[in-house]
Amino acid sequence: MESPPWVLMVVLLGTLGVIHLVQAQGQQGFISLDCGLPATERSPYDEPKTGLRFSSDENFIQSGKTGQVRANPGEYLKPYETLRYFPDGFRNCYNLNVEKGRKHLVRAWFIYGNYDGLGINPKFDLYLGPNPWTTIDLQIRVNGTRAEILHIPTSNSLQICLVKTGTTTPLISSLEIRPMGNGTYITKSGSLNLFARIYLKDSDTYIRYPSDIYDRLWTSYFMKEWTQISTTHEGSSSNIYVPPKGVLATAATPTNSTAPLTIEWSSSNVNDQYYLYVHFAEIQELQTNSTREFNVVWDGETSDPIVPAKYKIDTLFRRLPSTCKGGECSLELRRTNRSTLPPLLNALEIYTVTEFPQSETNETDVVAVQNIKAAYRISKISWQGDPCVPQQFMWDRLNCSNTDMSTPPRITYLNLSSSGITGTIAAAIQNLTQLEILDLSNNNFTGEVPAFLGNMESLVFINISWNDLNGSIPQALRRKGLDLFNQGNPRLCLSGSCLPPKPKPFPVVIVASVASVAIIIIAVLILVFVFRKKKPSTVGALQGPPSISPAVNVTYDNSSVSSIQSSKRRFTYSEVTNMTNNFQRVVGEGGFGIVYHGTLNGYEQVAVKVLSQSSTQGYKQFKAEVDLLMRVHHANLVSLVGYCGEGNHLALIYEFVPNGDLRQHLSGKGGRSIINWGIRLRIALEAALGLEYLHSGCIPAMIHRDVKTTNILLDEQFKAKLADFGLSRSFPVGGESHVSTMIAGTPGYLDPEYYRTSRLTEKSDVYSFGIVLLEMITNEPVIDQARTKTHITQWVGFELNSGDISSIMDPNLHGEYDSRSAWRALELAMSCANPSSTRRPSMSRVVVKLKECLVSENSRRNISRGTDSQSSGEVSMVIDTGMFPKAR
Ligand SMILES: *[C@@H]1O[C@H](CO)[C@@H](O)[C@H](O)[C@H]1NC(C)=O
Ligand SMILES: *[C@@H]1O[C@H](CO)[C@@H](O)[C@H](O)[C@H]1NC(C)=O
Ligand SMILES: *[C@@H]1O[C@H](CO)[C@@H](O)[C@H](O)[C@H]1NC(C)=O
Ligand SMILES: *[C@@H]1O[C@H](CO)[C@@H](O)[C@H](O)[C@H]1NC(C)=O
Ligand SMILES: *[C@@H]1O[C@H](CO)[C@@H](O)[C@H](O)[C@H]1NC(C)=O
Ligand SMILES: *[C@@H]1O[C@H](CO)[C@@H](O)[C@H](O)[C@H]1NC(C)=O
Ligand SMILES: *[C@@H]1O[C@H](CO)[C@@H](O)[C@H](O)[C@H]1NC(C)=O
Ligand SMILES: *[C@@H]1O[C@H](CO)[C@@H](O)[C@H](O)[C@H]1NC(C)=O
Ligand SMILES: *[C@@H]1O[C@H](CO)[C@@H](O)[C@H](O)[C@H]1NC(C)=O
Repeated sequence: MESPPWVLMVVLLGTLGVIHLVQAQGQQGFISLDCGLPATERSPYDEPKTGLRFSSDENFIQSGKTGQVRANPGEYLKPYETLRYFPDGFRNCYNLNVEKGRKHLVRAWFIYGNYDGLGINPKFDLYLGPNPWTTIDLQIRVNGTRAEILHIPTSNSLQICLVKTGTTTPLISSLEIRPMGNGTYITKSGSLNLFARIYLKDSDTYIRYPSDIYDRLWTSYFMKEWTQISTTHEGSSSNIYVPPKGVLATAATPTNSTAPLTIEWSSSNVNDQYYLYVHFAEIQELQTNSTREFNVVWDGETSDPIVPAKYKIDTLFRRLPSTCKGGECSLELRRTNRSTLPPLLNALEIYTVTEFPQSETNETDVVAVQNIKAAYRISKISWQGDPCVPQQFMWDRLNCSNTDMSTPPRITYLNLSSSGITGTIAAAIQNLTQLEILDLSNNNFTGEVPAFLGNMESLVFINISWNDLNGSIPQALRRKGLDLFNQGNPRLCLSGSCLPPKPKPFPVVIVASVASVAIIIIAVLILVFVFRKKKPSTVGALQGPPSISPAVNVTYDNSSVSSIQSSKRRFTYSEVTNMTNNFQRVVGEGGFGIVYHGTLNGYEQVAVKVLSQSSTQGYKQFKAEVDLLMRVHHANLVSLVGYCGEGNHLALIYEFVPNGDLRQHLSGKGGRSIINWGIRLRIALEAALGLEYLHSGCIPAMIHRDVKTTNILLDEQFKAKLADFGLSRSFPVGGESHVSTMIAGTPGYLDPEYYRTSRLTEKSDVYSFGIVLLEMITNEPVIDQARTKTHITQWVGFELNSGDISSIMDPNLHGEYDSRSAWRALELAMSCANPSSTRRPSMSRVVVKLKECLVSENSRRNISRGTDSQSSGEVSMVIDTGMFPKAR
């Protein structure tokens, strides 16, 4: 057996790589994505320089927009010229199929190239699955950068996520995944993040596929203290690291033949742990009386003497990682006394260890929830990447058991209520074996209730109410310890003897059903009560988790229990009289009636709006709209609990929101506190989320038509809830209930374009929202005849000319705001209030912008966090050299 000279390293350093020949495998298993390339456009294609087959990324990600570099066109290889960027959401993920347990080279390219013409280089984080991988800072790497890691996926899907960390928009140019050979680049723990991969050639070139069968990218590097040596010899079999032939062809030796060959760099972090792979081969014809022998000195450890093998690359490495003392790293090749020739080096790879401590969610759960997502075509921006972790990116309406990082989290809670879903209950649900709570209510589920639900042992609560299920309830679902809510499924057979589906002529039902409604209510209350007693903590979890990332520090209370929802119903007039204690306490006066305080079931506070009889355009339409509204649920919308429609008596019963409206809190009227800028931004964001939900989360979409500060209610935690939406089609809204014109809305907030054209779109709400924002910023009246600039938009527009934000901001804020966030909010408000509806942003865009404002304001409050280390600039010495494969 032939053993390379540095076998002795085993004794000294405990390291040894086994030497084999590995056969090249073409591009098998390669994933090469040209991000931002439209799938219709010549995809896949063979990149001419490398022969690599690139394809569009469209099938691997559900979000993002596409762009194209503008600066230096033709500078980069074609795959790096288009890009995908992510203006929406905080985490956007690619989902790729890989071979679990196999080492992969994962490489991502990021080239800004001024694709948006704004000249703002972004900075953001890159995650692998639930774990942070690296930060991409294109403000330092202005010409672009790449991230590369040798990683062993723990499941068959690899998720690569771009995470927004500031206000800039993440982007990606290309993704390249290469399966690696077995037995190479082994670490004690963690994955190998590429720091540098160089071959010593005095030119500006690079080597990659097809020369390198794994498509590692070797960049040329040379120092003036060195002398270049080269060969045209082909070389023979090489080791399992399979260095490409081009690496064998050239080497460097120190020009001063007695000096060592030294490579130095600074560690950006003193605790970085390094793995080095040193590649060398003798490529000169030696005289019989001459010898080349040297020691490798690294981290204070000297290797045994090494004599490079002739035309055959050996790879030297250590099995354990090392750190650089004081952050100064130095690799030295020193000739021994015996040696007549200076040391020689062909190539070097430097990696740092990146740990990935957080386990991914159990793969069975992930596959199941992906199948559910696909079956119901759920396309939420938060439903990307790992469902459970990291916690701040947990999928909306999901909860997980999350004991410790090393245990894969399991999905315990799934809430698909009010999601407009049609179809049968998906079989994939049964694979969520740790699921405790399942809420499918308020959808259009059809078909039978599957028996597997009863066999899911962890399940303690199922809500399938208000769907269109049929058949009978399987026996298995009647087991002890499982609470089932199934009301509102007219075709569902509750007992053995089933009646044909009931027709629903409303006036008959109202008389006949008072008794049965009461029975149902009692049953529901008992269930709720029992359930509460048994599982106090999980009842709170019935409220879906907030749809917004906690990264912006918006917190929600879980206090309001779903009982108020599950008992929603029709009330008789006498119940309404009782509930309001004979209309004793007036809490407000809305657009179409007086609002009274009421109490439901003796403890639940409600607001009862008694509609003035002239306001309705017919009972049938009233009923249709109420049915629709009862299905709308969002944390930032005031929920409709029930209604009364008895003869002339029409009333709506709403969730009670105790803390007044936003107008009061801006003016300090009614003894209300004046809220600070941070809270204002949060309230604006929450109101925007409610509105966005009406526009894009509801089926059919709803236009509020009367967005104004008095319609934004606040609870004890100052959480905002939009009131008075949805009735607009049968009621004239606003304070102008006597006006019979078709145009509805409140003066000042009313979209001028809508007023002119009578064409109502979501953008009319955006306009009103812009006015609300201006009011929150300035605390000026929307219309003030005493001002020369009567309307608030005119006033702000005029004041803006001064360029001084403090003359615009509400003086009650006493200057306590981040002026960048104030400017941003002001710009946003003005763009919302643009006279032309096509120039106004969508509410989704408004949400994104407000989140950015909030982040900016919150960072002002966290100034103590200190400044980031910028020391990574030094590092670029090695890695940035000719790093970009040029097209030319
Ligand atoms: C970016 O590229 C330009 C032109 O090629 C070059 O002048 C500049 O030094 C580069 N900047 C960095 C940070 O590499
Ligand atoms: C790698 O080696 C391990 C055992 O050494 C083996 O189980 C596995 O199948 C190998 N994988 C590949 C891709 O060859
Ligand atoms: C060559 O290197 C040796 C050892 O590092 C040093 O002592 C000597 O001065 C160097 N010679 C020149 C000409 O730089
Ligand atoms: C080695 O041998 C050659 C001739 O064969 C001679 O010219 C050279 O000086 C020798 N070198 C050493 C270091 O002895
Ligand atoms: C090499 O030289 C060093 C110092 O010059 C000396 O300590 C060492 O013993 C020498 N080694 C051999 C093998 O001659
Ligand atoms: C994931 O869950 C399934 C089903 O309960 C179980 O069989 C499997 O062992 C779990 N996997 C891991 C990695 O815990
Ligand atoms: C449910 O389905 C019915 C009939 O297909 C349809 O009229 C109704 O609008 C649907 N409701 C929802 C919320 O999708
Ligand atoms: C449940 O998971 C198993 C593998 O874990 C899979 O074979 C099966 O098809 C899944 N069932 C459903 C209904 O998705
Ligand atoms: C999720 O579950 C944990 C316990 O497993 C609980 O502490 C937490 O409040 C839940 N979160 C939500 C939003 O329901």
